[in-house]
Amino acid sequence: MNANNILKFVNVSKDFNSGGVLFTGLKSVSLEVNQGEFIGLSGKSGSGKTTLLNIAGLIDPPSSGELFLRGKNISTLHDNELSKIRANEIGFIFQTFNLLPLLSALENVEYPLSLLNLSEDECKVRAMEALKKVGLENFSHHRPSQLSGGQRQRVAIARAIVKNPSLILADEPTANLDSKTSEEILDILISLQKDLNVTIMLCSHDPDLISLTKRQIKLQDGIII
Ligand SMILES: Nc1ncnc2c1ncn2[C@@H]1O[C@H](COP(=O)(O)OP(=O)(O)OP(=O)(O)O)[C@@H](O)[C@H]1O
Ligand SMILES: [Mg+2]
Repeated sequence: MNANNILKFVNVSKDFNSGGVLFTGLKSVSLEVNQGEFIGLSGKSGSGKTTLLNIAGLIDPPSSGELFLRGKNISTLHDNELSKIRANEIGFIFQTFNLLPLLSALENVEYPLSLLNLSEDECKVRAMEALKKVGLENFSHHRPSQLSGGQRQRVAIARAIVKNPSLILADEPTANLDSKTSEEILDILISLQKDLNVTIMLCSHDPDLISLTKRQIKLQDGIII
């Protein structure tokens, strides 16, 4: 295995049992992802994009096949080890931002650090640095309802990068934004990816956005085409 490899899917399939009926999420997907790659995932609704991101994010286990994280087969890891990897190494960005409405921007960004063993001061300093990286240092005390959609998504990006993750998974991060703001969000992700050498896997229905990513993968009916 190449030393730069962060994720490796080997014949990964995912089925969902819903009311006794089996639905296919992914069908025998094999894929290697290197540290620092920026991957754009496209495909129609229901093609398996979210399923693939949830498996990569160690949220959902594969039904069959194997997933390796830095060469380690994740099926050999216990739930607490998986939670620890998620808390330390993986940042998530969602279509609906998923910010906590009663917390300020700064507190939202600090939140994932509460799972790590850091002092209060260090959490604050790191959260402020992350807000600066997305250009929101002057909005740290605003609550989500006092921010625009693009600003909310930037808070969510700051929250994803604050722990210096090695992997960022973004599930349609611009679907609720206008096209200009979407491009700004993508520009931020592209520059963060370069500065931090973080691996980003992003899925989107927007071909213009996907075309700006370095490596493009298309899914159809759970298969990479
Ligand atoms: N929890 C679930 N139970 C049953 N079926 C599911 C579940 N999650 C996903 N599926 C099915 O798996 C397939 C892939 O779904 P997935 O959410 O990965 O698609 P997607 O590409 O992200 O679509 P979209 O662009 O609409 O978000 C779909 O057919 C979906 O119905
Ligand atoms: Mg989806």
